[in-house]
Amino acid sequence: MPTSTSALQLWDRPPHTAAKHSLLRTYLGAWFPIIAKFNRRVIYYDAFAGPGQYESGEPGSPLIALDTLINHSYFAQMSETEFIFLFNEKDPACSENLGKIIRAMKETDRPWPPNVKVSIESKTFIEVTSSMLDGLDERKARLAPTFAFVDPVGVKATPMSILARLTDYPKGELLVYFAHEAVTRFCGAGNIDEALTDLFGTDEYKDASLLNGMQRSQYVHDLYKRQLHETCKFPYIQSFAMYDHRGKRLYDLFYCTRELIGLDRMKGAMWKIAPSGDFSFRDRFANQEVIFSQSIDTNPLQIHLLQHFAGQAVTIESIVDHVIAATPYASSHVKRFTLAKMQTAGQITSPNQKKKNSYPDGTIIVFPPT
Ligand SMILES: C[S@@+](CC[C@H](N)C(=O)[O-])C[C@H]1O[C@@H](n2cnc3c(N)ncnc32)[C@H](O)[C@@H]1O
Repeated sequence: MPTSTSALQLWDRPPHTAAKHSLLRTYLGAWFPIIAKFNRRVIYYDAFAGPGQYESGEPGSPLIALDTLINHSYFAQMSETEFIFLFNEKDPACSENLGKIIRAMKETDRPWPPNVKVSIESKTFIEVTSSMLDGLDERKARLAPTFAFVDPVGVKATPMSILARLTDYPKGELLVYFAHEAVTRFCGAGNIDEALTDLFGTDEYKDASLLNGMQRSQYVHDLYKRQLHETCKFPYIQSFAMYDHRGKRLYDLFYCTRELIGLDRMKGAMWKIAPSGDFSFRDRFANQEVIFSQSIDTNPLQIHLLQHFAGQAVTIESIVDHVIAATPYASSHVKRFTLAKMQTAGQITSPNQKKKNSYPDGTIIVFPPT
């Protein structure tokens, strides 16, 4: 329920929003040092930034991003890189509140690090993004490596064409919230077709209205993912479903990248909040203890590897890359939780391994023929 203080509305923070923030924090904690290693300027663009805080004082995404960087254990080593935080929030009361919180943060965190720049806009996502990219085009310049967090409410503000333009260069990454429930509800209604066509960049979503239940849900998810692949040209995409307390699938979060390492780190973050490996979060189960968090079930991965690499000798690096790109698992699952178990069970061998169950770079794994 929103509370109102003058024109400002603060929202409560349901568990799935907390889960989204946890993903963001974990991923950015990995992304900042990786991207700063080879780039002197990087951008975190929070295109739907919100008011900066929730009803009970929890920080919003802009504060989470800033805090993750400034309090990073590796922050001192990133001093050669300039970090630009671009926050956009259409609602003036929200953007004003965000500005106030950031000014207070700058007062507290003195001296403010000179390599961290914050800029706040208060326009629509389309306006800010288009004018930023038009300016760069005029100067024949390119956007610095950017992580764009696109977190709208509803279906109307994030055309696929703008997402494609924003991320049209090798180091562009995107984390976008997709209004799964609204799309599945309205795809056949005919009253917001223009917005849906912009959202998907195609009108094929109309075919979803011929389907029901799970099939419709899967269709809209897969179509949006396909469009991110084809229109935005992202080879690697991982989605994550958010369910409300009634079990309704409200949103899908899509993470898109062209870098295998990014995909790996995001999958690691997703496994952390969904340890059963189903890439979803349910408000209903939010306060229940996660019993199996320490014992990830890698049996499906073991079976997959035996089939995929049957009769081959392959390096550990190739196995890890394959797992990240082609399975739901992350690199952290490969050695101890999968290969060591397979080796102990006599399913794989290695001709050049110095120590059993240890797999440094260059280790060759031999898979038996099927
Ligand atoms: C889901 S909230 C953002 C929450 C924030 N990212 C967080 O995690 O703390 C979406 C915000 O987008 C703003 N908004 C709505 N339409 C917009 C548009 N077209 N462009 C930019 N911001 C918009 C709303 O005012 C709202 O504050």
